[in-house]
Amino acid sequence: MSLPGPETSLVLLGATGSIGTQTLDVVRHHPERFRLVGLAAGTQVERLAAQVQEFQPEAVCLATPAAMAEFRRLLPDYTGVCLVGESGLDTLATWPSAQKVVFGLVGMRGLRPTLAALQAGKTVLTANKETFVTGGHLVAPYLDQIVPFDSEHSAIFQCLKAEPGHAVRRILLTASGGPFRTTPVERLPDVTRAQALVHPNWVMGAKVTIDSATLMNKGLEVIEAHWLFSQPAERIEVVIHPQSIIHSAVEFIDGAVLAQLGVPDMRIPIQYAMTFPQRMPPCEPSRSFLELATAGSLTFESPDEARFPCLQLAYEALRLGSSACAVLNAADEVVVQEFLNDAISFIRIPTLLHDCLDAHRQSGAINPTPTLQEIQELDAWARVFVSKRMEHCRFPVSRQ
Ligand SMILES: NC(=O)c1ccc[n+]([C@@H]2O[C@H](COP(=O)([O-])OP(=O)(O)OC[C@H]3O[C@@H](n4cnc5c(N)ncnc54)[C@H](OP(=O)(O)O)[C@@H]3O)[C@@H](O)[C@H]2O)c1
Repeated sequence: MSLPGPETSLVLLGATGSIGTQTLDVVRHHPERFRLVGLAAGTQVERLAAQVQEFQPEAVCLATPAAMAEFRRLLPDYTGVCLVGESGLDTLATWPSAQKVVFGLVGMRGLRPTLAALQAGKTVLTANKETFVTGGHLVAPYLDQIVPFDSEHSAIFQCLKAEPGHAVRRILLTASGGPFRTTPVERLPDVTRAQALVHPNWVMGAKVTIDSATLMNKGLEVIEAHWLFSQPAERIEVVIHPQSIIHSAVEFIDGAVLAQLGVPDMRIPIQYAMTFPQRMPPCEPSRSFLELATAGSLTFESPDEARFPCLQLAYEALRLGSSACAVLNAADEVVVQEFLNDAISFIRIPTLLHDCLDAHRQSGAINPTPTLQEIQELDAWARVFVSKRMEHCRFPVSRQ
């Protein structure tokens, strides 16, 4: 059931991923409220083709010419505009008939089209934390145009709606603790990709799921919160909350704490961002309402810094400045992919990230306000650095 209201035209970047498909579910449930005018994906061509048949957008974008050739083969009668690669994402992000652009892209590839959309005056709805991590200072001037829907940031956004920023004492960013919260530390060297990919509460894309297992995801979210809510690192505190019912909270200077609670279903913050400042009934009423009496215990603990060194690395990068955050993000994208390829062990992830951050600091290239081009150069430098460093710690091919 939808409430009456004007139709909103949307572009969705990252349509084939976890966020993208859940965004489409929201559109499917409220067809009279949303019209999709553009869809972009990487290389999952069949999935995108099925989405195009269902939603009939004015334009589509795929990551490579080969993927686009396959798309045209699958849908020879599609008469919309076909775009490719980074420039195609920029074109879609600024598509004239789109009012809002939804970012479900993974990785720092989201930064450039986000800037393009903001500069074109679009409203940006985003879960792409890497954009804030790598270029938070570049998007900060446009905060009024951004509605975040990473569940924690959606929660903080909602808590802050009624309060002036200067009354904030602390942001309390909750974290489930991931699949290895209670695994004995001596077993961490042997945990497998399959074990790391099983998140206790959320079903998400592979990168963010591995980042949740190392707590780097929470570290990236600390940096995201810093830019979104203009708070310094020392006012952003991570609290482990294994049930993922409290999505985050804000403590004010008088001691009051406002929290946002709900069942762990990303479609709820996605829909909130899409309809903000209105609210609408959820996609699945039978599963979307929180029954506190049956929710059981809500528990909290401090993060174990020895078990999860990535969290402190993110704080360190935030204190060093934006260039360090960009370097850390790029190194993380590479090492997580290598872990997913079964090429390195789980405990190598933080040591490689530490080495990369350290090398950046020692190079004297710390820069609090890099340009987009400098961010792309830092990103490339970190990828090369960490790839070379991994030559010494990859498993033998027989184990991969
Ligand atoms: N999933 C969640 O519940 C969740 C929750 C909070 C925040 N987030 C954040 O949301 C973002 C997306 O996460 P996700 O879990 O949805 O990731 P995902 O499932 O891996 O999806 C990523 C999307 O990006 C697309 N993509 C990859 N490379 C591309 C390229 N070169 N050009 C264009 N598109 C490309 C993928 O397309 P193909 O698959 O077609 O290649 C896919 O549509 C991340 O920043 C993540 O941290 C996710």
